[in-house]
Amino acid sequence: MTEARLEAWLAETRSFAPSSEFTAQANVGPEIYAEADADPVTYWRRQADRLTWTKEPTVTLEWDLPFATWFSDGELNASYNCVDRHVEAGRGDKVAYHWVADAEGETRTITYADLQKMVAQAAHALTELGVKAGDRVAIYMPMIPEAVVTMLACARLGAAHSVVFAGFSAEALSSRILDSDCQVVVTADGAFRRGAASPLKPAVDDALKSCPNVRAVLVVRRTGGDVDWVEGRDHWWHELVERQSTTHECQSFPAEQTLLIMYTSGTTAKPKGIYHTTGGYLTQCATTHWQIFDVKPDTDVCWTAADIGWITGHSYIVYGPLVNGVTQVLYEGLPDSGGRDRWWKIIEQFKVSILYTAPTTIRTLMKWGHEHPEGHDLSSLRLLGTVGEPINPEAWMWYREHVGGNRCPIVDTWWQTETGAILASPLPGITATKPGAAMHAIPGVSIDVVDNEGHAVGNGEGGYLVVTQPWPSMTRGIYGDPERFKDVYWKRFPGVYFAGDGAKKDDDGDLWLLGRVDDVMNISGHRLSTTEVEHALVGYPLVAEAAVVGASDATTGQAIVAFVTLKLSADEAQRDQAGVISDLRDHVAKVISPIAKPRQIILTPELPKTRSGKIMRRLLRDVAENRPLGDVTTLTDPSVVNSIADLMSQGVEE
Ligand code: WT7
Repeated sequence: MTEARLEAWLAETRSFAPSSEFTAQANVGPEIYAEADADPVTYWRRQADRLTWTKEPTVTLEWDLPFATWFSDGELNASYNCVDRHVEAGRGDKVAYHWVADAEGETRTITYADLQKMVAQAAHALTELGVKAGDRVAIYMPMIPEAVVTMLACARLGAAHSVVFAGFSAEALSSRILDSDCQVVVTADGAFRRGAASPLKPAVDDALKSCPNVRAVLVVRRTGGDVDWVEGRDHWWHELVERQSTTHECQSFPAEQTLLIMYTSGTTAKPKGIYHTTGGYLTQCATTHWQIFDVKPDTDVCWTAADIGWITGHSYIVYGPLVNGVTQVLYEGLPDSGGRDRWWKIIEQFKVSILYTAPTTIRTLMKWGHEHPEGHDLSSLRLLGTVGEPINPEAWMWYREHVGGNRCPIVDTWWQTETGAILASPLPGITATKPGAAMHAIPGVSIDVVDNEGHAVGNGEGGYLVVTQPWPSMTRGIYGDPERFKDVYWKRFPGVYFAGDGAKKDDDGDLWLLGRVDDVMNISGHRLSTTEVEHALVGYPLVAEAAVVGASDATTGQAIVAFVTLKLSADEAQRDQAGVISDLRDHVAKVISPIAKPRQIILTPELPKTRSGKIMRRLLRDVAENRPLGDVTTLTDPSVVNSIADLMSQGVEE
């Protein structure tokens, strides 16, 4: 569709009704909303029956705002629910994962029976390394089956895993290991990206220089590169794990046993260790995966094209799909490893029926041209999903037309690391969809949009997204910092959960997400705080001050623009601006991750500040996005902004 046609269409029709074919076979019907609304707590208790409990819960919700527990007297084992029970039910030969390597042609088929043996061996190995229930294990791995196996082995032992995205730096890794006091780290020698091996183990070695409590490192050999070895601390996976017994008796743990910690950026420089427990989290992952993706475990092949280093991978590559016993694709590479049609080849080869990915990836695939998807048979697809950021209608329509063949419903799913699982999404077969709208809360969840004072806005109005009732997969808090949990999420609007997102209700009352309203940026679906990047920049010796904003970007959603003033003694360096800028970008990549590299760095003699000394980020965002400048009356020296705008227009950037 051309832009003009799209606009005309949006103005007129604005929505797609579900097809009668889809509705006829959908897992759930429209009565589900009324059923959940009538008594959400009882509704969720029924959903918990999707799990196998060794002790059935008799209590459902205990709510001591803002702290909830769900199913607290129940007992279960997460890895048993994901793996063993499917084997015991006679489905051991069913494929759990079609693992697809970065290199074309390299695949591994892992059945549920295989997975059971691998998890058993890993659990024995971790036990040999001293891991016990209640411990924390850091996982810093590429997208290989051993990563999933390690997560499940931790869960099996009642130890919490803390997966750190393998794109994070040694410093980011060490701060996460220290914050939750992980004593064992599981990693690989390296990872493959577009055919090239890049080392991982050196970052672990580096990180561990400041983590004295880590006593063991378990290393998968993936790339075969040389690695430094610390005798007594380091162990090869193929030596330690593969000699273990392939059966492992598992023990049950309370529903509120911590299952996982996932660090995410907030509005300060220190990432928050968001933790989730077992019973409520698994219940909502499985329920949402079932309802929203309409999965048929016997026939569907699901592909969540995300990394296990983020919550999307946890909830919709590992826990939700495995509890539901489906077959999945697990892909190691990048969208263009081996060529720009790699994704479409994978879908064709494995007959993927459900595809879930981020808008930023869709925009990239769109940029590469529709001849790539059109050159492949994508008729196996029957449902598409998106997550991570608001999707622009143009990308949505491209996804619908060129990937979904105008027949697949698209579910735009809104959620967060903190929410554990999806909270807002259309239900396919029930809800009409609109390009760019998450539509409404899922059954059993209460969402509203409120104004500054916390009052619900009317249709056609915008405000802040809040969740007004507890839900099973809600985070139980920030690891080790309950006060911060209260401050960040529960203070802004007393009594309700403040998500940090702007939203609106359209004239029909349907929900649209509008992006973050705090200092959190969303770069290609990765969450980063402005403060975190500023902190990294001022950590560089030449830098006096830095202000970072997220400016809109056609491909990545937002991109990082940094305004930096150098120390006076840096006069010398200032003459080589290009050199300083490139060093600064590398420095940020080293301290945080390459994904945090600013798109632009503008060296400026001064930053715009209010009379009370606050940096005016809103103005800088306007400058970065070339918008006319708004109100500058509280600025100490308004000419500062103009000189920054001049610097940008002169193209003094990278
Ligand atoms: C933030 C959470 C949830 C897994 C991936 C990101 C944004 C997420 C949507 C959506 C508009 C979305 C929000 C949210 N977001 N999904 N469908 N529409 N915005 O998890 O890193 O915890 O980030 O991502 O701004 O607050 P996360």
